[in-house]
Amino acid sequence: MSAALAAQPVRLGLAGFGTVGQGLASILADSAEWIERRLGRPVAVTAMAVRDPSKVRPTPLPAGARFVADPLELAAAEDVDIVVELMGGLTTAYDLIRLALASGKHVVTANKHLLAEKGEELFALAAQKGVGLYYEASVCGGIPVVQTLKESLAGNRIMAVTGILNGTSNFILSRMTCKGLSYGDALKKAQKKGFAEADPTLDVEGFDAAHKLVVLIRLAYGQDYPLSALPVTGITHVTPLDIAFAHEFGCEVKLIGQAKDIDGKIMAGVHPMLLSKSYLLAQVHGAFNAVRIVGDAVGAVMLYGQGAGGRPTGSAVLADIMALARDGAAPNNTGFPEKVLPPAQTLPPEEETSRRYFRFTVEDKPGVLAALAKALGDVGISIYQAVQKVAPDTQDESVVPIVFMTHHARQRDVDAALEKIKAFPFVKAEPVHLRVL
Ligand code: NAP
Ligand code: HSE
Repeated sequence: MSAALAAQPVRLGLAGFGTVGQGLASILADSAEWIERRLGRPVAVTAMAVRDPSKVRPTPLPAGARFVADPLELAAAEDVDIVVELMGGLTTAYDLIRLALASGKHVVTANKHLLAEKGEELFALAAQKGVGLYYEASVCGGIPVVQTLKESLAGNRIMAVTGILNGTSNFILSRMTCKGLSYGDALKKAQKKGFAEADPTLDVEGFDAAHKLVVLIRLAYGQDYPLSALPVTGITHVTPLDIAFAHEFGCEVKLIGQAKDIDGKIMAGVHPMLLSKSYLLAQVHGAFNAVRIVGDAVGAVMLYGQGAGGRPTGSAVLADIMALARDGAAPNNTGFPEKVLPPAQTLPPEEETSRRYFRFTVEDKPGVLAALAKALGDVGISIYQAVQKVAPDTQDESVVPIVFMTHHARQRDVDAALEKIKAFPFVKAEPVHLRVL
């Protein structure tokens, strides 16, 4: 921010006045004095864009703000110092951010999808223009994980980043587990509360968590992990029966995003996983998120808070606005000095190892258990615990679920065993296979 603007308000061009835009506006209104005390000047929305300006919204419009017909006008507007992109999506948001950076304006965004897909280009443009592209709100709503990786843990080699990165999925799994809600009803509730993406398949199919993981990998390792190469599984196939079996093993089921340094290569993915109820991550419920970061010097650090929702996410957006207004743009936005980060050194997904949970639906007859155990043993997968128990609501008692928890297994071996097992005539349904953290 130039010295000439020192005593002036920080002028925002706000694109999007939905859940997060309104969250930001409500904090700006409620905490105006406090923000001015911190910054020495006020923050004001001068111009804003929405799709439908006539829509009735629960939060009052920012005082004095004018509507522009096209969000792209914000990039060139003379009364805008920082463009705040809270529309979402990959089209208009992309054009707006590019134009704003190219015109020398700072940008604050919560758009993890865009940063995962086009971050490489946008961060390079911001560096070239010497402006800020800030994105604290893009990962885990109100939790300051971007700042933590970029600044507070900058001296650490990061061994692992493991988190519950999607509030909607965690909300759905929590409601299915604790309140016995159906998957569909729980999703509707999450949408009503404003946690879900405009396209909720991004949440429940694991893609939103994948977008955030790509952003976190960039911050933790200074490498660009191609989104298309990241193994991703969502929660749509997690059933109440598997949640109940997980409980029998003392575990919860959570959608986990994880990146680990394995001898200099990054092993990463997003999957529903079983994790012991004694882990802090297992105790994260509803729309809350948490991230566990292990650094070589600091050890384990755990961040926890509201991962979605208007005011928590607005809090992170406002932190970026205030940082830019106070300090100007940091020399790099990724936490690394290169204008373009190198591509990630990735561990091939088939080499990934973790403990596993298998549920096989089989005919209840002699030799079945032994054949399943042999198919796993033949590829070196060792069983740690086993349960055969008729499900409470079973109509057909001639088939039973057999559940195994195994020791560490390599993905390539898991695939080979499942191929063989699916062909057994006594296997009566698609096997269920989950990772164990
Ligand atoms: P939202 O409630 O759907 O609001 C989107 C806003 O953008 C609306 O005001 C909409 O206008 C406006 N908009 C969309 N496309 C537009 C276009 N082409 N031109 C002009 N205005 C347009 O979305 P949100 O939940 O606030 O999310 C916004 C961003 O924050 C997304 O990138 C999302 O991933 C991210 N995020 C959301 C959360 C959360 O908890 N919701 C948390 C973290 C990050 P109308 O109001 O007229 O429809
Ligand atoms: N849809 C996202 C979630 C919003 O549920 O986590 C926060 O990024």
